[in-house]
Amino acid sequence: MHLLAASTQRNLGMAIAVVAIVGFAIYLIYNVLWAGRGEKGSELELAPNRKPYLSDDELETSKLDLALVSGLVTLVIIGVALPLYWLGEPGRQQGYVEFSRGQFTSRGGEQFEERCASCHGGGGLGGTTATSITDDAGNFIAAIEWEVPALTTALYRFSEEEVRHILNYGRPPTPMQAWGAPGGGPLTTQQVDELIQYIQSIQLSPEEVQGEVLGGLVLQVRDDVLAARPDLRDRLEQANAAVGAAGADEAAAEAAAREVAALEQELRETSEQYIRNLNPPEQGELLFNNGVYGCARCHTPRDSWRFTGPEEKPGEGPVVLARGTEQEAQEVARLGSLIPAYVPGGGAFGPNLTNGSTLRQFDTAEGHAGFVTIGAQEGVGYGNFGQGDGGGQMPAFGVCVGDRDSGERSPLFGFCMLEDGSDRPGMLTADQIAAIVAYERGL
Ligand code: HEC
Ligand code: HEC
Repeated sequence: MHLLAASTQRNLGMAIAVVAIVGFAIYLIYNVLWAGRGEKGSELELAPNRKPYLSDDELETSKLDLALVSGLVTLVIIGVALPLYWLGEPGRQQGYVEFSRGQFTSRGGEQFEERCASCHGGGGLGGTTATSITDDAGNFIAAIEWEVPALTTALYRFSEEEVRHILNYGRPPTPMQAWGAPGGGPLTTQQVDELIQYIQSIQLSPEEVQGEVLGGLVLQVRDDVLAARPDLRDRLEQANAAVGAAGADEAAAEAAAREVAALEQELRETSEQYIRNLNPPEQGELLFNNGVYGCARCHTPRDSWRFTGPEEKPGEGPVVLARGTEQEAQEVARLGSLIPAYVPGGGAFGPNLTNGSTLRQFDTAEGHAGFVTIGAQEGVGYGNFGQGDGGGQMPAFGVCVGDRDSGERSPLFGFCMLEDGSDRPGMLTADQIAAIVAYERGL
């Protein structure tokens, strides 16, 4: 079928060519053998109605002028139109790149809402998905809720090739399935490219990323800071109570809400100060456990998910058992050895980092930090015995690695360059990485 379809056009072309060649041959034969034969008589006899040709005067004035003017017009057209055309050419190419980029983004966005948003949230802002853990034989162990990462910083940590690898092959055994054809998924190469283009379009700015990272740390120390500042805690409680008490009184509600916002701002500033005063390994621990921006979700068992209890909240589904609660402890005790122990850095999707393993892998803290900065690359060794496997899954935390695998910056996927041409920074600062390394080397 393919061959046939392809040859239809070729057949058509051949037919036109044959008609043209035969026609030309007939024309030649007619002219050489027929029309070109010797003349039969004088010119006057053959064409008695022929007009006398233009006089010399006419030939040298109007006729000549006409030829010269038309030559000049042609020259001007060539001289002006061609440069004008070339002037527009780079803009036209740029416009096309932008046009196709926009088209990729909008198609990717539609696909994302259709296939990914149920887990990753609308706009890729993160979400959760209900699933279960099973043993090796596939037997049900417990119902859980998996925290699905926001994708708004994914390209700060992974190159486009690495994101493509994740989309193609998924991340077994997590709920992230294989989507691309190479991994047995339903999407074509172009659909995967469109999704990557969409993911690129939702990336936060470098400032927003740092704000998000800090926000996660502030949330983690909230209880500690409130315990250390009972005055602030009491004022916040009172202000929140006032919001509740204001009821229908709009002016009172507005004033109470303003008070809460001011106190939350004070709490945030106090927390940032509190974090700055921690020593590096303590800061590193917070950074390590910082959700999608941290390390625990891949390096600590059970960090990515929570148990869902037997009860259901009407209209909201199963109740999620928060870490460290009484109910969770009961569930953990009930399941016993069926589930891994929650050991910080004890190894999950990424390797176990405890028992001094990072000290054996990296002789110095600098070497260790260097690895966390650039991450792993498929098939490339690191440290004393490390080997980046499965597409290079350990993210780069300190530099934007862009399309490091292909080694080129295609206009469609050149994420690591900012609009002013400078390089986009990584997700964490060098100080933050040094703090994490100090924590990890003590595990
Ligand atoms: C059933 C839920 C689910 C669906 C649907 C889903 N994902 Fe995921 N995805 C996940 C989970 C869970 C993870 C994190 C796995 C882990 O804990 O390491 C993830 C991870 C990822 C990552 C890596 C992010 C990171 O920071 O590690 C990317 C990129 C991604 N998904 C893109 C997509 C795209 C694009 C689609 C739609 C084609 C999609 N996902 C559909 C659940 C889902
Ligand atoms: C998306 C999952 C993921 C996240 C998040 C992650 N890692 Fe990893 N990490 C891995 C994987 C997988 C490896 C093994 C190397 C590979 O194949 O890429 C690894 C390897 C490592 C190693 C080398 C361990 C060894 O003994 O070989 C260190 C150190 C490390 N990660 C530190 C970190 C730090 C620090 C963070 C947070 C800033 C972090 N990781 C976040 C997946 C992750």
